Amino acid sequence: MKIGLGCDHGGYNLKEEIKKHLEVRGIEFIDYGTRNGIDSVDYPIYGEKVANAVISKEVDYGIVCCGTGIGISLAANKVSGIRCAVVSDTFSAKMSKAHNNANMLSLGERVLGRGLALEIVDAWINTEFEGDRHSRRVDMIKEIEARHSK
Ligand code: RB5
Repeated sequence: MKIGLGCDHGGYNLKEEIKKHLEVRGIEFIDYGTRNGIDSVDYPIYGEKVANAVISKEVDYGIVCCGTGIGISLAANKVSGIRCAVVSDTFSAKMSKAHNNANMLSLGERVLGRGLALEIVDAWINTEFEGDRHSRRVDMIKEIEARHSK
């Protein structure tokens, strides 16, 4: 499994913590920036970069961080085929994969402590999509996307 990582300045420290955590777990990743937490940057740039990497299959999944996790997820979700879930608890992390087949996870550095954030990452990575009736619903989301992309 290879994971694409991205953040703005508000999510930089958390992205760095996630990198260390993935290294320890032996999970491959590509870092799409930003490269420091000092210079103010625009979160849509990094949301789109990671989303493009997921859609082009350069990586299998994406994890993005900003101050709240909201802005960068909104940007990522504008890329067709992306289902990016903003999550602040481990139950939602599991469900976002098991039921919604989320291919991206978004976390807020200013919302979560490091310990909880890394537990959320683990819960999300370790959960598989359950398919069955959930596939039909995910397909319905894709249909909405197709109808509105004309
Ligand atoms: C940056 O100050 C902040 O707005 C951003 O990181 C994020 O929280 C936006 O949703």
